[in-house]
Amino acid sequence: MRERDELTAGAIGAGLRTRWLGQRVVCYERVDSTQTVAKTMATRGAAEGTLVIAEEQSAGRGRLDRRWLAPRGTSLLFSLILRPQLEMARVAALTMICGLGVREAIRELTALPAQLKWPNDIVLHGRKVGGILAETATRGEHLDWAVVGIGLNVNLAAEALPAEFGATSLQHELGRSLPRIPLLQRMLHGIERRYDQLPAGQWPAQEWSAALETLGQRVRLLTAEGTLEGLAEAVDEAGALQLRLDDGSLRPVWAGDLVARREPTTRP
Ligand code: BTN
Repeated sequence: MRERDELTAGAIGAGLRTRWLGQRVVCYERVDSTQTVAKTMATRGAAEGTLVIAEEQSAGRGRLDRRWLAPRGTSLLFSLILRPQLEMARVAALTMICGLGVREAIRELTALPAQLKWPNDIVLHGRKVGGILAETATRGEHLDWAVVGIGLNVNLAAEALPAEFGATSLQHELGRSLPRIPLLQRMLHGIERRYDQLPAGQWPAQEWSAALETLGQRVRLLTAEGTLEGLAEAVDEAGALQLRLDDGSLRPVWAGDLVARREPTTRP
C-alpha cells in the first residue's frame, strides 16, 4: 500500500475535484503538529483552503489538550486553513461540515456505517475512528481565520490502536488496508461543497443532527463543571447539545465528553 499511497502534493492534487480546498498543499514527512503549523501560516496570511498534512506528528493535539497519537504512515493527519465569513457564535458549523464530509467519504469508499458523535468524533460501531479540532482567531464579533484539524485512523492494525480510548481504525473494521489519498480527496470535496453553501444560508445543523449517533440515547456527560446525566434530546444550530435532565429541565451544553450508557457494539 505504501508505494501507491505516499502523501505528496502531486498525488493529492491528481484527481482532486475541489475548486479551492486543498489546491495548495504543504506536506511533511514528520512535523510537531499540522495544527500548529497551519495556525502559524494562517496568522501570516496563508490562502484559504491551504491543506497542511503529515505522515507523522511528534506532538499531535486533540481536544481539551489531549495528545493525538498515530504511527507513521498509517493515518490521515491534516489541518485546513479557512477564512469564513462567520460570526463567532456560528463557528460550530465548521466542525459540523468537516464531520459530515469525513463521514460521507468513509461511507462512500468503504460502505462502513460511519457516524458522528457529539461534539467532534467520527465513530464506527461505537468506537472512535477520528476526531476534529477547530481553532480560531477573531476580529471583533467575526472570525478572522479558522484552522480545522482532522485525524483519521486509516491503516492501523488492532495492536496499534490506543486501547484505553476505545479506538478503532478503518483497516480494523474492514479487515483490509485501503489507500488514503482517494479518501482524503473525497473528504475535501464533501467539505468544500457544504462550506460553499454556508453564505446562502444552507446551514448544516439538520444534516449533522441526523448523523449523530448519540441523539435519543440516555447519556452521561463529563463537563468541566462535573458529570451530568440525561437524555441527549437534540442539538441546536450553535452546536450545543440539549440534555433533558431527570428533573425534566432542558440543559444546553457546549463542551464535554459524551459517554453513551450502552456499551460499544462489537464488529459483525
Ligand atoms: C480530537 O478528537 O480530540 C481531535 C483530534 C484532532 C487530531 C488532528 S491530527 C491533525 C491535526 N493536527 C493536530 O495536532 N491535531 C489535529
